[in-house]
Order: sequence, then structure tokens, then C-alpha cells
Amino acid sequence: MVDIEQINPRNEAALKAWWEVGCAATAYRPGKPWPLWEQSRRALPAPNPERAVTLLAAIDGREMVGAGLLVRPLRENFHTATAFAYTRPDRTREGTGRRLVRELEVIAAGDGRTTIQSEAYLPPGGSGAAEAFATAMAYEVASRESIKELAVSDYRARREALLAEAAAADGYRIITFDTVCPEDHLESFGRLLGMLMSEVPLGDLDLEASEWTPDRIRAAEQRQVGIGRHVQTSMAIAPDGSVAGVSDVRIDDTDHEHGQVGITIVDPAHRGHRLGLALKLATHDLVLAAHPSLVSVDTSNAEVNTWMNAVNEALGYRTIETLLELQKRL
Ligand SMILES: CC(C)(COP(=O)(O)OP(=O)(O)OC[C@H]1O[C@@H](n2cnc3c(N)ncnc32)[C@H](O)[C@@H]1OP(=O)(O)O)[C@@H](O)C(=O)NCCC(=O)NCCS
Repeated sequence: MVDIEQINPRNEAALKAWWEVGCAATAYRPGKPWPLWEQSRRALPAPNPERAVTLLAAIDGREMVGAGLLVRPLRENFHTATAFAYTRPDRTREGTGRRLVRELEVIAAGDGRTTIQSEAYLPPGGSGAAEAFATAMAYEVASRESIKELAVSDYRARREALLAEAAAADGYRIITFDTVCPEDHLESFGRLLGMLMSEVPLGDLDLEASEWTPDRIRAAEQRQVGIGRHVQTSMAIAPDGSVAGVSDVRIDDTDHEHGQVGITIVDPAHRGHRLGLALKLATHDLVLAAHPSLVSVDTSNAEVNTWMNAVNEALGYRTIETLLELQKRL
């Protein structure tokens, strides 16, 4: 008899068992599909001003056979939550995934959330259990994304030629920083972050715009600092001093071999100056300088985001998976 229970992320033994289920359930995927234990141990119990996290466990006797995760945004998008289910590979097709998702939906609905989002990862052009499971749980595909990975050796081979191309970003100044935005640019950075939801292709995902005040940015930065995550950021400063574009690569203290692209956005008023390329070159150079042991960086973009995909391909990123952004209205 399998019981579904909520677990406290501060209970380290329970958290470790939960992490192991997720690790085993995602081990078939390429790239770095699951964080290292040291990172999850640090990040999951830490307070997060942006999101509330609920962990569920499917327990059979003394063994954990399934793990669930519900993420509820706390600053906006109060109508949404994101639900993830993981079943230990030796215990699939017993109804555990279904029970976890149902319970996650009940918790979300109890908090007034009416749109539940999720993710399914597939081999490029292929299908798999996650897609069949999503259909069985009545989730629809709201957007298709490509997960891409960059081998650092490929980046090094292309870098020189790209630097010459990015030099066209004349009149703009590129600055870089680790996680904490210089005070001078904070407000203008917030204005650009506020454009993200309308500028990033979201497909049919039901998400509303966000407002980034200096206080909110500072609180989010402090959370990253607190969990040992370095958001290595580049910013393009326009001749009038405003922030014209921003991009980042994140690296955890616990893993200096893998990085992950966070956000990239160039203000529509400043497009066409190769700033996307210049910003990405700056972040990749920054992480390589800070972490010479870096092996790979991953990113995800909507398949329809031709501009970002072209920049990523020029840098040497290759598609390793397809990500289906899923959605269900309760
Ligand atoms: C997807 C996953 C959670 C399914 O877990 P599970 O415990 O096997 O799911 P269930 O047994 O509750 O399956 C529910 C239904 O999903 C569908 N389904 C699940 N796995 C399937 C598969 N491999 N092939 C076809 N259909 C499948 C079936 O309709 C199934 O009902 P049925 O067994 O009565 O036919 C599990 O395979 C997993 O952990 N995968 C890796 C992580 C992941 O992709 N999570 C989903 C996105 S968050």
C-alpha cells in the first residue's frame, strides 16, 4: 500500500530519499537533468521570496517510490502553480505518478491556483513516458522548447570569430557582475525584467507580466547568494545610460563543471546591434574565467524563438532534448 505524504525539506533524511527518487527517475535524460545532492540540500529548505515549494513523497512501507514537487509563484501569477511527478524507474505503471499529480493539484486548488503547468522532456523528435503520462493526466502542450547544451571546447573553438562579429555593438558598453546588480543600473534593470513575459515567446502558457522593483531584485539576489548560486551577468548599457539588454549564466558553488543560462533579453528599442551575441559572449567568458573547470552550459528556448536560437547555434549549442511546456486548467 503506497501512501502519499507531504515531507518537510528541513528533514534531511526525508529530503535525501526524495532527491534520490528524482535523480533515479531523470537518470535516462541527457545533459544534467537533476541538481547535485549538495545543491538540493542547500536550496530546497532555504526560504525563497519568489516561490513556495511543497514536496510530496509516495511511500511504500519504509521505501520512497515516488516524489512530487509543487511550485507556487508568490509575487504574481497567483492563478498558477507548477507540478512535477517522479516515479522510481523500478516502480512505474503502478498509478503512483497519477496519485502524486492528483494530490499536487488538490494542494494547488486549495491555494486558489486554477492553472497548473508542468514539463515533459523527450528525445528530440521522439516521444516517451512523460508525454503519454501528460496526456493521461489531461495536460495540454502549451509550448515546445529545445533544450540545448554547449560543450565548452566547442565554444572555445568558435569564440574568436564571434568576437569580431559582436564588435558591431558600437556605442554600447558591456558591464558584468556576479549576482548583485550595481546600484546605478538597478531601476533600469527592473524595467527590462518587467518586459520578460511579453517578450519571451510563451506559446499558450497562461502567465502574466511581472513588476521588478529594486527591493524585489535585491531580495531575489540575496536568495541566490544564500544558496551559493552565482548568477554571472552581463548588461549592455546604452549611450543614454539605460540598460539595453541583459543575459546570465548560473553556476552553483557545489558544481563548477555545469552552468545554466538563466534569462536573456534585449530591449526591442535596442535590437539589431548584435547585443544578444555580445552579451552571451561576455557571460560565457565570465564563467570560464571564474571556473576554468567548466565542461558544459545548458539552455532552453522556444522552438519559435528564431533570433535566440540563431545566437545559440552560433555559440555552438546543440539540441539534446525537446521540452513540452504543459498546462491544465482545473
Ligand atoms: C512520467 C512518470 C511520472 C509516470 O509515473 P508512473 O508512476 O509510471 O505513472 P502512472 O503509473 O500513474 O501512470 C498513469 C498513466 O500515464 C500513462 N503512462 C505512464 N507511463 C507510460 C508509459 N511509459 N507509456 C505509456 N503510457 C504511460 C498511462 O496512461 C498510465 O495509466 P495506465 O498505467 O493505467 O495505462 C514516470 O515515468 C517518471 O518519473 N518519469 C520521469 C520524470 C517525468 O518525466 N515526470 C513527468 C513530468 S513532471
